[in-house]
Amino acid sequence: MLIDVLRLKKSYTSGAIINDVLKGIEMKLDKGEIGVILGPSGSGKSTLMNIIGGIDRGDSGRVIVDGVEINNLNDEQLTDYRREQIGFVFQFYNLVPNLTVGENIEVVSNISKSPLNIDEVLTAVGMHDKKHRFPRELSGGEQQRVSIARAIVRNPKLLLCDEPTGALDYQTSRSILKLLQQVNKKYGTTILMITHNAAIAAMANRIFKLRSGEIVEAAVNQVTVPAERIEW
Ligand SMILES: Nc1ncnc2c1ncn2[C@@H]1O[C@H](COP(=O)(O)OP(=O)(O)OP(=O)(O)O)[C@@H](O)[C@H]1O
Ligand SMILES: [Mg+2]
Repeated sequence: MLIDVLRLKKSYTSGAIINDVLKGIEMKLDKGEIGVILGPSGSGKSTLMNIIGGIDRGDSGRVIVDGVEINNLNDEQLTDYRREQIGFVFQFYNLVPNLTVGENIEVVSNISKSPLNIDEVLTAVGMHDKKHRFPRELSGGEQQRVSIARAIVRNPKLLLCDEPTGALDYQTSRSILKLLQQVNKKYGTTILMITHNAAIAAMANRIFKLRSGEIVEAAVNQVTVPAERIEW
């Protein structure tokens, strides 16, 4: 088991109003699997992912990632966990505009304990020939490839993707999904991905449907579909 979430709860309070965002989440994902979280806007998807990734903390319950109970870590330990074990990919690519593609990867690789080779990672995401370009000289899909390279150069155990294709057109989305599937195979990286697109669930080993802070359905796909065959 790579991810084991038990009775996870999280609320936000503003004034007298309490918003119960996660109401006792239970979810498991095995090592090497791809998991997809589906659910309407505001159902708690990003909150759940951010807690698993150590960006945020739950109020109660347990979150165990690769045997480490991260809810028990202090702030410094949680930062180390996030740096060493987790790669993040977001809808917007957050590349540093005045650094080249190669330099964007290098700044992350430099602070990692056992990074992958930068050229290998850029080749894996199909961006090696654009190593010396700046982000503004790239399309959205290319920028997302670079942000995936940046996330995997640390060789994380877990890649967390929050709507990675949310800003991309159909064909580009499919090529990014294919790339994520390739990363999963090549490096054995466990992937947890949030999407609004139910069709994407076909490429996942496990699907979690979230509604108002509760998992209303957890399904297992015995047969997963290659990303290039997914249509919507
Ligand atoms: N830092 C915060 N402070 C207060 N409320 C928050 C905070 N972050 C999230 N929320 C609230 O928690 C709920 C769930 O938010 P979350 O971002 O997890 O939803 P989501 O499922 O990712 O939605 P979307 O699909 O729109 O990204 C929302 O009601 C949101 O307003
Ligand atoms: Mg979200």
